[in-house]
Amino acid sequence: MPTLQEFLDRVTKAEADATERFGAVASVDEHTEAVNRFLGRSASERAHLKVWLAELPGPDKPQAGRAYNAAFTKLDAVAAESLARISSALVTAPAVKDPTMPARERWHGSLHPVTQAIDEIIEIFREIGFTIALGPEVEHEWYNFGALNFPPDHPAMDLHDTLYVDRPGLLMRTHTSPVQMRTLQRYAPPVRVLAPGNVYRRDFFDATHAPMFTQLEGLAIDEGVSFADLKATLMHFVKRFYGPGVPVRFGPSYFPFTEPSAQMDVQVDLGDGRGKRWMEIMGCGLVHPAVLENAGIDSNKYSGWAFGMGPARIAMSRHIVPDIRLFYDSDVRFLEQFR
Ligand code: DAH
Repeated sequence: MPTLQEFLDRVTKAEADATERFGAVASVDEHTEAVNRFLGRSASERAHLKVWLAELPGPDKPQAGRAYNAAFTKLDAVAAESLARISSALVTAPAVKDPTMPARERWHGSLHPVTQAIDEIIEIFREIGFTIALGPEVEHEWYNFGALNFPPDHPAMDLHDTLYVDRPGLLMRTHTSPVQMRTLQRYAPPVRVLAPGNVYRRDFFDATHAPMFTQLEGLAIDEGVSFADLKATLMHFVKRFYGPGVPVRFGPSYFPFTEPSAQMDVQVDLGDGRGKRWMEIMGCGLVHPAVLENAGIDSNKYSGWAFGMGPARIAMSRHIVPDIRLFYDSDVRFLEQFR
C-alpha cells in the first residue's frame, strides 16, 4: 500500500519526466507515443496514479487529488503545445528537392467524345461522296415542319414539344431535317450531304434524353435511288463504325417526310447491369415525293433516301456509357477519358 508521500513523489516525477519528454518530441509519432505513455486512458502514468489515488486512505485523498489534478491539467496543456510546435514545423519545413519526382504534366483539352463520333461518321460518309451542309438553329416553321410534309396539326408542333421563339413563325429547330429542304433549294440533284448540328426539344433531362442534343442528318437524291441503296449504305456505315460483327436490325417506323420509313438499331451492352439490348441509333427512309415537290424537284424523275442519327447515342454505345447526361455535363474528369 503506497503512502501519501510516495504518491506525491510519483506525481512530481511523472510531471517532470513528461514535461521533458514532450519538450523533446520531434514527430507526430513520437508525440503519440508520449501521450500513450503519460496521459493515455489505460497503462499510462495517469491511469496508474488514478488507481493509486483510489487506494489511499480517506484523509489523504484531498491533498493527493489536488496534486494529481494540478499535474495532469498542466501536462494536457504541455502536450497540446508540443503538438502545435510539431505541426507548425511541418508546415514551414523547407521544400525538399527530389530529382526523381515525375514532372507535372501540362493540361491540354481535346475534342468532345460526341464531336469525335461526328467526325468519324462524317469521315466514313466522305469516302463515299457525301459533303457537309449546315442550316440555322433558329429555324422557320415551314422548314422545320411544313416543307417536310408534317400535317398542320401534327403533335410535334405542339407547344409542349417545341421551343418557339418570340417572333411569329420561328422556333429552335427540333431536328436537322430542315437542312434537307435548304439544301435542295440551293443545289440541283444529284445531292449527297450530311448535316450535323444542335437541335432543341422540350424534353426533360434523363438517361436517354436531353433538351438540347446533336443530330446528324443524311440526304441522298438522284435518279433511280431505291431502298436497297439506303440499306446497303447504312449497313456499310454501321460495319465500318462498329466493326463487322455488330448485331444490327432494321425495323419499320414512321416519319411524315419518308415513305417507307425505318429505324436502325444496334445491339449493345451499356455496362449498366441490364445486359445486351437493342438501341435505336437512327431513323431513316425513302424521301417522301411531297418533300421533293416542295423543293421544286420532279418526283417522277428523282428519288432519294435520308436518315437522322443521334451521335451522342452512338457515342454511348461506342464507349459503353449508360447515361447521356454525362456527355452534356462537361465534367472534365469524365471527358478526359476520351482524349
Ligand atoms: N428528324 C427525325 C427526328 O428527329 C429523324 C429522321 C428520321 C431524319 C428519318 C431523317 C429520316 O432524315 O429520314 O426524329
